[in-house]
Amino acid sequence: MNRRQFLLASAAVAASGYGVASPPLANTGKPEANLILLRPAPGEAELMGAGRAKVPVWAYNGSVPGPVLRVRRGEELRVRLQNGLTEPTTVHWHGVRVPNAMDGVAGLTQTAVSSGGTFDYAFTPPDAGTFWYHPHHRTAEQMAHGLYGMLIVEETDAPPVDRDLPLVIADWRLGREGRLHEESLGSMGDGSHAGRLGNVLTVNGGAPGAATVRSGERVRLRLLNASNARVLVLDVRGLEARIVALDGQPVRPFTPGEGGIVLGPAQRADLVADVALAPGGAGDIVEVSGNLEFPVLRLTAHPTDVARSSPLNAPFALPGNGLPDPDLRAPLDVTLRIEGGAMGRLTAAVHNGISKDMRTLVNDGMVWAFNGVAGMADKPLFSVPRGRTVRVTMENETGWPHAMHVHGHHFRTLSGGLPNDDQAWRDTVLMGRGGKTTVAFVADNPGKWVLHCHMLEHQATGMVTWFEVT
Ligand code: C2O
Ligand code: CU
Ligand code: CU
Repeated sequence: MNRRQFLLASAAVAASGYGVASPPLANTGKPEANLILLRPAPGEAELMGAGRAKVPVWAYNGSVPGPVLRVRRGEELRVRLQNGLTEPTTVHWHGVRVPNAMDGVAGLTQTAVSSGGTFDYAFTPPDAGTFWYHPHHRTAEQMAHGLYGMLIVEETDAPPVDRDLPLVIADWRLGREGRLHEESLGSMGDGSHAGRLGNVLTVNGGAPGAATVRSGERVRLRLLNASNARVLVLDVRGLEARIVALDGQPVRPFTPGEGGIVLGPAQRADLVADVALAPGGAGDIVEVSGNLEFPVLRLTAHPTDVARSSPLNAPFALPGNGLPDPDLRAPLDVTLRIEGGAMGRLTAAVHNGISKDMRTLVNDGMVWAFNGVAGMADKPLFSVPRGRTVRVTMENETGWPHAMHVHGHHFRTLSGGLPNDDQAWRDTVLMGRGGKTTVAFVADNPGKWVLHCHMLEHQATGMVTWFEVT
């Protein structure tokens, strides 16, 4: 059996292309060559596993997550969004350094596509790696319904693996009869606390993944946290796995430490494991942040089928994407003070150009502020000429963690990230409560870009701003 023939055990997983290593581009009735149709619409998903209850969701091309999109670095990706929802939507290509007009941010880079409407996205991803796509209009509600999928940009020249498994992990809040808990969508309680935390985790839209591998195989796992707000902590058991990329960008491979792999909302980690299991043995990835452990993936070694008598010794490292290094001799220094939330000290902020006290803000759905402004401001946080280095110091003066995300660029975490973030390129950085994190990047992508918390209920209640590269 080779990697292209291999399917994960779960039918739900296989149906959307997540179990196969070959490019499963879901082109249905494509009108032109190379044009992928992506159609978000109401649908159903067996979130609890194949054969279990069908839950009404919103799905891209009928599957949750949406189809895995694969493109080779340097090749153009063309996607036609056909809006089958009853409300407007867009597609944002998270982590991809796209031209501004392709960024999919409703109200800033494009008008939201109305129900029944279409929009063509076309761009050539400059970086290889693990990325993803999701709406950027009413993001919290649309993602809570299941709209997201993985975008894989293949390296021109990557060391080979025997198997490549995308794993989209998402947190769902289900209510009675296993339906999506609609009543709490947009809840200010969630907005002012930790965001919409769920009660069910899915892996590729269904029950935990399971795959039979052969002893000696080299497996690449692409982990994505597509949750609205939950921070995942993943423990790797019985597998020698090294992290080879974070947020799509290669890192010097390292073994995850004691604390496991911490993945904030929107973050990704690529792992490479050489299966050193005895035939019939198993290795696991387990989510351990809560009281109850949640299995994410079990790899079981085939009882007789052996890929190699001993695992590969050759180290695995991905070629870098050649991002421009920040020049810290004379950067544009920006401070981003984050305030608000439950148990915070925010008493007033500017919203829609008007200064409001806290009670008015809450009435208007706002509870957080960046530098005293809640929600999108008329003026950019900063404007910078193309090519200049920006150094942003984010001061979290709230009692909550945040997953800070910058569009159009990847940044280097200079200080204050998780230990493994140090100097890594990321597009989303997780900040602890009361923490201070400094990042820097070369502002080389012209246009208007948002910077926001990827805990989507925080974004919806104020944690979003924008900057301009001229
Ligand atoms: Cu995942 Cu503003 O994006
Ligand atoms: Cu993004
Ligand atoms: Cu936040």
